[in-house]
Amino acid sequence: MKNRILPCVIGLGYVGLPIFLRLQKKFKTVGFDISYNRINQLNSNIDITNTIDKYFKLRNRSFFTNKSKYLAQCNFFIIAVPTPIYSNRIPNLEYLNKASTILGGYIKKDDIIFFESTVFPGVTKKYCVPILEKKSKLKNNIDFYTGYSPERINPGDKNHTIDKISKIVAFEKNSKKKIILNVYKCISHSLILTNNLEDAETSKVIENIQRDLNIALINEIYKVCDKLKINFKNVIKLAKTKWNFLNFKPGLVGGHCLPVDPYYFSYLAKKNNIQTKVILAGRYTNNSMAKFVINKVINFLNNQQINKKDNILCMGLTYKENVPDLRNSLALKIFLKLKKKYPNSYSYDPLVKDFKNNEIITNIENIKKFKAIILLVNHNCFKKILIKVKKIKKNNFLNIFQ
Ligand SMILES: NC(=O)c1ccc[n+]([C@@H]2O[C@H](COP(=O)([O-])OP(=O)(O)OC[C@H]3O[C@@H](n4cnc5c(N)ncnc54)[C@H](O)[C@@H]3O)[C@@H](O)[C@H]2O)c1
Repeated sequence: MKNRILPCVIGLGYVGLPIFLRLQKKFKTVGFDISYNRINQLNSNIDITNTIDKYFKLRNRSFFTNKSKYLAQCNFFIIAVPTPIYSNRIPNLEYLNKASTILGGYIKKDDIIFFESTVFPGVTKKYCVPILEKKSKLKNNIDFYTGYSPERINPGDKNHTIDKISKIVAFEKNSKKKIILNVYKCISHSLILTNNLEDAETSKVIENIQRDLNIALINEIYKVCDKLKINFKNVIKLAKTKWNFLNFKPGLVGGHCLPVDPYYFSYLAKKNNIQTKVILAGRYTNNSMAKFVINKVINFLNNQQINKKDNILCMGLTYKENVPDLRNSLALKIFLKLKKKYPNSYSYDPLVKDFKNNEIITNIENIKKFKAIILLVNHNCFKKILIKVKKIKKNNFLNIFQ
């Protein structure tokens, strides 16, 4: 790569789009996504991930495309495709397989390829690189160069934006350092370099496993306090006064990372005859919160003498506050379960754009029409309406973790 750096981001979702947006400020960047819909929407400045606004303009002749032929123009690739699990909780590497197969048809000598999807240790070198080598008939670390840079982006978080989050960048060939830094410094102001891809892959999954377990622990404590009628809020206020108490909040764990990544790591451990009981216990507890909240809501409705014919409203459906993402959302699961028991249940979530359901209403001006209102996810945009809801509904309003 003697001349210009011409980056391409493959997969323009919650992770890929912010990376593309940073790169196109400095380089002519191609944004490639296999989804025709996604590219059409992005070309019309419509973004269901809430990353770009309607006045956004592309720079440096950068463009979005779903045509893979444009990969041939590029020499620095960043892959950010999904890594979900199957229903049996086994890692699904199909997206990585497809992206590597497509890319393998275009890479040439001296190209650099970075993977950013979250994986279990070894996937980049033992799974993706062989696909690239087979398809391109080129050799890794001789003809082309591969790296791994885990993503720490936190959708909905206006403080920890992509440029401010420190980013691990792993690559083996020191001779490529200048080009790699040139690209990655444009994404984040703080880079941590390592020459071991597997260590970088492992560090990413364990960050999420640690967070999942910490939330699971506080969720379990919350459940016990709830049952024993111990004032959880006061308990935490007191415990927090110790210098090393970790301040995690109970909640519904969803999304594309925490409910998935522990299974990736456990899968690899199991393949190597190690049982990850603690890690999976965290998953079990956090998954069980859906049932716990449903029971809590039903008890509340019974206590308030709300019957099956009454209108009930659930506010917030996404997997956490201030994001439009419904993937693995326990709030959505809770709403759909509740709907089965209370057929006149409706939900309100102005952030959700890609989910068509008759029970999602678009405005809640007429609060009085609902006999009870349950707050499942507390988006910032609910602030004003909640003042009204609390005033009108008083005892018939439930905030699930308050
Ligand atoms: N969402 C997060 O907060 C987050 C944070 C850190 C890491 N990650 C990881 O980053 C990766 C991407 O996650 P995401 O949330 O951005 O996913 P996403 O579903 O929002 O976006 C992925 C995009 O890739 C596209 N795609 C799929 N296959 C493709 C292919 N073969 N070629 C081109 N495009 C393709 C999809 O159409 C989609 O637009 C995952 O491994 C995830 O675990 C996500």
